[in-house]
Amino acid sequence: MCQILFCIFAIILYQFFILFFLTIKHVYFMKTKFFICGVFIATLFSCGNKKEDATPAAPLVADVPAIDGEKIFKISCSVCHGVDGKLGLNGSKDLSVSVLTLEERIALITNGKGVMPAQGAILKPEEIKAVAEYTFKLKK
Ligand code: HEC
Repeated sequence: MCQILFCIFAIILYQFFILFFLTIKHVYFMKTKFFICGVFIATLFSCGNKKEDATPAAPLVADVPAIDGEKIFKISCSVCHGVDGKLGLNGSKDLSVSVLTLEERIALITNGKGVMPAQGAILKPEEIKAVAEYTFKLKK
């Protein structure tokens, strides 16, 4: 974007120089010269400012709060498994003694099993991963 503006102003500047040689009106030249220089410098400054603005914007994207597996568990899973994972309601397994691997848990949570509802359409893959990781913390 900046390069395009830079090019446009360079062309305009060039044309005003040609105009100067054709008209040879000193006062006119001085006026346009200062005007063009002003616009040129303003463009450079605005380009510089844009760069400065973009720098703090990048870490903002990275600052998006991490997905809270514990929160998701309390909302979606504790109804059956209980906050500590041991409730065992609706025939649900005690998560504190589960021997499943992370991959198996992710698959089970995504697809559901028996009474356990599938979460694939409800939670995002990264949320499922976060909640699966959280179920390991229930182990004691
Ligand atoms: C409607 C009740 C219910 C809800 C809600 C529920 N589960 Fe389950 N869950 C079950 C049942 C029932 C089983 C046992 C399935 C089977 O083996 O037939 C189970 C099994 C599991 C297992 C496997 C345990 C093992 O060792 O076999 C994991 C892990 C699990 N649930 C995690 C979760 C997570 C995480 C959530 C929340 C996203 C959740 N569950 C929500 C009922 C539920």
